[in-house]
Amino acid sequence: MNPNELGRRQFMRHAAAGAAGAAAMRLCGPLGVRAEGAPRIKVGLMLPYTGTFAPLGTAQENGGKLGGRDVEISKVDDESEPGKATDNINRLINRDKVDVVIGTVHSGVAAAMIHVTKAAGVLHIIPNAGLAAATGPLCAPNIFRTSFSNWQSGFAMGSVLAGRPKVRKVVTLSWKYAAGEEFVKGFRDGYGKGGGQIVKDLWVPFPNVEFQALLTEIAALKPDATYAFFAGAGAGKLLRDYAQAGLKDKIPLVGPGFLTEGVIAAAGPGAQGVETCLHYADGLGTKRDDAFRAAYAHSFNSTPDVYAVAGYDSGLLLKAGLGAVNGDVGKKKQIWVAMETATIDSPRGKWRLSKAHNPVQDLYLRRVVGTENKYVSVAVKALDDDPAMKNACKMA
Ligand code: PHB
Repeated sequence: MNPNELGRRQFMRHAAAGAAGAAAMRLCGPLGVRAEGAPRIKVGLMLPYTGTFAPLGTAQENGGKLGGRDVEISKVDDESEPGKATDNINRLINRDKVDVVIGTVHSGVAAAMIHVTKAAGVLHIIPNAGLAAATGPLCAPNIFRTSFSNWQSGFAMGSVLAGRPKVRKVVTLSWKYAAGEEFVKGFRDGYGKGGGQIVKDLWVPFPNVEFQALLTEIAALKPDATYAFFAGAGAGKLLRDYAQAGLKDKIPLVGPGFLTEGVIAAAGPGAQGVETCLHYADGLGTKRDDAFRAAYAHSFNSTPDVYAVAGYDSGLLLKAGLGAVNGDVGKKKQIWVAMETATIDSPRGKWRLSKAHNPVQDLYLRRVVGTENKYVSVAVKALDDDPAMKNACKMA
């Protein structure tokens, strides 16, 4: 398989976020009685699609409603290709004339989308991409994120290791693109508080997965832990290679939750015991999460992961906005204010948005046990975003 093909596959799993966004419309149910003849709400999904995206169509057919109105869904496959992003988002806005855009996964694609949605004043909900600037210098009244900033999960893992007196020396290993650099910055900010040292940052060009030379370097550096960001198939390969290189039992591998999210089966024994931090975990054991998981399993015949929850939360946030105006998409400012001030009763725990429109949320420490990213503890309670980004956000 060539690296580009691998890169595309790495994001296949994440497409579930969009599926769940549509699922949310079904799971949330109608908000009220539909006004006869009221126009449909047009939702544009711009995501990395795959053939496994069938649940979307199902959700639409089952009559998703928002603000009491029927929902019409337009889809564009963004292929995780920043170079095609501007054309793709323009297609949704100019050709399909959508009222709302939901997307996407890849930070580079999301950045290009934001430039267009910001100028057009079209409501834009980001269900995954964690790029710092989205809720920093690029922030806008119509741009909202329901997932996370990359910094947040890095910071949480850094804070956990900062609290472990035996972990004095850490090496980081990550894909070299915007998101990877932000995951490492967050880790550095969290870990630095404990007085430990990051002895080296190692990088792999995105979407390559050739780790051998770097694993040899890690073995020579002998850190107390390796912190790594990879996702999807890239993460699965790193977990396998790390174990095969004989490092797993000597130098614990940790990371933001994407390192193990959706790849436990593919990683085999290499994933077992690996600790990560994320805003969702298996086995939270709350009534809210148990109900969501049961409903999701019933609808999609699979177990929800963080991507499913982020998509679901996009539906909840949109519901809060459109519910406040009875689905009248013309009342833009009222919709944005309702979204801004909503408390989202998410399966992952209640959260609200910061002034920059990024979730302020609990970050969990998880450990891979069997097929699950099992809840261990709350790593950081109600974590806000990187202060540097918050300060850089000037809402127009
Ligand atoms: C991102 O590009 O922001 C990104 C991609 C995949 C992840 C997380 C973040 O799993």
